[in-house]
Amino acid sequence: VGIHIESRRGLPAYLQIRDQLRERILRGDLGPGARLQSERELARVLGVSRTTVVSAYDELMAEGLVEARPGRGTMVTTRQSNLGHEPAGQPVPWTAHLSAIGQRVQRSAIAELLSFRRIADRPAAISLALGAPDLRLLSLDHLHEALETALSRLGAESVGNVPIQGAEVLREGVAARLRAHNIPIEPDGVMVLHGATQGLDLLLRLLTEPGDVILTEVPTYFGALLTFQAHGLRVIGVPMDHDGMVVDQVEFLLTRYRPRLIYTVPTFQNPTGATMSLPRRERLLSLAKHYQVPIIEDDPFSELYFESPPPPAIKSFDGHGHVLYLGTVSKMLGPGLRVGWLAAPRPIVELGVQLRRLTDLQPAALNQMVVAEFINRGWLDEHLVAAREAYARRCLALHEALGRYLPKDAMWRRPAGGLFLWLELPPEISADDLLLVTEAQGVVFMPGRPLYPSTARHNVCRLNFTVPSEETIDRGVAVMGSAVRRMLRHPKAPLPPRATPSAIV
Ligand SMILES: Cc1ncc(COP(=O)(O)O)c(C=O)c1O
Repeated sequence: VGIHIESRRGLPAYLQIRDQLRERILRGDLGPGARLQSERELARVLGVSRTTVVSAYDELMAEGLVEARPGRGTMVTTRQSNLGHEPAGQPVPWTAHLSAIGQRVQRSAIAELLSFRRIADRPAAISLALGAPDLRLLSLDHLHEALETALSRLGAESVGNVPIQGAEVLREGVAARLRAHNIPIEPDGVMVLHGATQGLDLLLRLLTEPGDVILTEVPTYFGALLTFQAHGLRVIGVPMDHDGMVVDQVEFLLTRYRPRLIYTVPTFQNPTGATMSLPRRERLLSLAKHYQVPIIEDDPFSELYFESPPPPAIKSFDGHGHVLYLGTVSKMLGPGLRVGWLAAPRPIVELGVQLRRLTDLQPAALNQMVVAEFINRGWLDEHLVAAREAYARRCLALHEALGRYLPKDAMWRRPAGGLFLWLELPPEISADDLLLVTEAQGVVFMPGRPLYPSTARHNVCRLNFTVPSEETIDRGVAVMGSAVRRMLRHPKAPLPPRATPSAIV
């Protein structure tokens, strides 16, 4: 019969029979219509009970591989192929194929968020909408030299293997930099990422299930909202004021909603520019410790301060590993480098590495080496000095232009660093409507609505001051200001038609 039962394999005999018969059927050794031995006969030959063989045949029957024919015993099913009968030229109905996560990604809220992308790419536009550093400030000489050094040091290995956790030289550089900011971390607690976004996704996949709750400031970074939605998380918002997240509310929310995680951008937050005060940072960490809820601290902006450094990262007083800290060069050097990092306790780093292996087998060696050169040769620090100075000037220009062109009941606070200023328009003005008007005149900004997980404020918007020049900022705000005044004077005036959705980052 060609079936062998091994008692030492630990697999019940009926499953061994099933597996071996299945293999023979699929290989074609037992063709369609072939008769299997009778249950009694096979049981006798194999020295097992008849029930064992009956169970094996039942399993194969449930799989549709065999069928019982009255009076003829058990036979291999004759399967008819439908090939050749498919309707011609039909597109694949992908929606019907989508997994739960595919469906969540497809859902309109995310599509709507993404529809805010690319506005700023239009050549004539003045964009106050971006979330990027000014690439014109970057030294191309340093970039060249970093690439050349990396190439000559690595040779062909520059397109070879880098450990998934990240090149050692970069992890050492990042760890040293974090330690200089009082974050006690060794290179083995650092995982290099293709940007902080990858880290957020990995952490959510490791630590949450769909339906779980995550606490976060509102409004918040829209990329994080996209990720939360795709993961099926319920986002519970903590209000903000000028000192960042109102941490006094957090204890109630922790006991009421039992979140799995707290996500915060405590320094020069995207989109509000607000910075969490030191006492609030300490209190948030005590709450996280007490209620055993990890904090994801997303910190892309803290080195972009104007005058004095911001309060230390929450991670810097995290003695017990409650804080999972994300950093990135995207806002310091350039988002296309795709280099960020996670600083976290070893078990999380190890799991992160395992999980990343599934979707992203090889980090890009050259990019990591370029960033390591920038860090280790002091070029990043040099660049930051220039960036801080330029951004501070442009932020001041924005602040002054708003004072010049906006009506008195518009409100804003001049941020102390980062990329963004949060503008509260007069209550009669919807930021979405204002965008329609200014976009027709070539000026775009980020309206606040997509930056809230649910109920949004209609009269708020985010203005970027790092990419446009001072003169461009002035012209852009002048257009915004006169549009606001016109809309206040003629509240019923028809709005321009909605343009094809385009881009904001
Ligand atoms: C708060 C915040 N976190 C993360 C990111 C994305 O970082 P990365 O480019 O490293 O994925 C951004 C980009 O806008 C951001 O504002």
